[in-house]
Amino acid sequence: MATLKLVSNMNTRISLAAITPTVNLVRHQHCWWSHVEMGPPDAILGVTETYKKDTNPKKINLGVGAYRDDNSKPYLLPSVLKAEEILKSKNLDKEYLPISGLAEFTAAAAKLAFGENSRVIKEGLNATVQGISGTGSLMLGANFLRDFHNGPKEVYMPTPTWGNHIPLFKKAGFAVKQYRYYDPKTCGFDFNGALQDMAKIPEKSVVLLHACAHNPTGVDPKPEQWREISKVMKQRNLFPFIDMAYQGFATGDIDRDATALRQFIDDGHQIALAQSFAKNMGLYAERVGAFSLVTASKEEKEKVMSQIKIIIRPLYSNPPIHGARIAALVMNDPELRAQWLKDVKGMADRIISVRTKLRDGLKREGSTKNWQHITDQIGMFCFTGMDKDQVERLTKEFSVYLTKDGRISMAGVTSGNVDYLAHGMHSVTK
Ligand code: LMR
Repeated sequence: MATLKLVSNMNTRISLAAITPTVNLVRHQHCWWSHVEMGPPDAILGVTETYKKDTNPKKINLGVGAYRDDNSKPYLLPSVLKAEEILKSKNLDKEYLPISGLAEFTAAAAKLAFGENSRVIKEGLNATVQGISGTGSLMLGANFLRDFHNGPKEVYMPTPTWGNHIPLFKKAGFAVKQYRYYDPKTCGFDFNGALQDMAKIPEKSVVLLHACAHNPTGVDPKPEQWREISKVMKQRNLFPFIDMAYQGFATGDIDRDATALRQFIDDGHQIALAQSFAKNMGLYAERVGAFSLVTASKEEKEKVMSQIKIIIRPLYSNPPIHGARIAALVMNDPELRAQWLKDVKGMADRIISVRTKLRDGLKREGSTKNWQHITDQIGMFCFTGMDKDQVERLTKEFSVYLTKDGRISMAGVTSGNVDYLAHGMHSVTK
């Protein structure tokens, strides 16, 4: 309206008819998104945004799970750097990958998870495609199950689980339900609770499992508990969807960290599997991942594969090439692979050592609370048991950033900041 008044007052030769389309355009453009409301920041990635704005030199970001070296710097794995050098010297082209991704990568990723000698690999029963890191791989699985799963469109998740699991499956049309997992009384795994809940899950439902280094709790079932879970799920005909984002990060040993997954395969489950190479290769922003479905025969595998490709094509056409090339080379070249296994072990060991330092630091501060779970829990995270108010104080008074559930990324704790962290944690929990 203001535009219209202005123009008509100008006493020029421009006719009203000439300007009307512009006015309409302006009015319509103004209206398109006026109903859109501000959404909340992401529970994990939003923490980094707030952290960046803080000017306190002592600030620590323990929100997102991203590994730091002992100088608080992002870590480029020596094996990955070497692979990049080799790739650079080859002057490779950037042609499109096939819809299913880089074959050398998908084959190596599947072997890494199932094991070289796995029946699944030997008989070629895995339909494996490259995914956009762990999230994109989970999304492919959720979409495939939405279209083809012959069972309730219900997915059962551990309480708690990674925040992104929930919207991801909901967007794919699943009802999200829970089974007991973490026991706040023991800060450990609620084995009986989990089994009791699984015994009640309707047949053929999808059950989400974290292969190792459970996020956010750092609490994993023991191998004998996994055996029992696998048995119960088989008896009840439940479908296991395994999220493996931390292979190697739990114990420092990639094979040990695949124990649960391989147990399920040995017990005859046909699983869905999402893999991420963000953490164990430090390829966060390269978005390298894989999605696999275990099938009953080669023929079935071909059919399943064709349908996964049909899901991928309208989503993102085909995956990015660079990170997959790095990961493939690291896994397939014997020298680089040996280096990588050392790199992974080095990261896992640093986290283990800093867990002890944090516990000792809290004791030195005079904390009488039982912090044993800091060293009992494994992988990238520690579920500290701090409540929302304590978390808020830790951030406000000490510029220590973490998620509201009290999870801290141990990968951001270093020998340089651990005492300050212990001081802050003690101050807000005493
Ligand atoms: C985390 O839990 O911090 C990571 O998995 C990163 C992410 O995307 O949430």
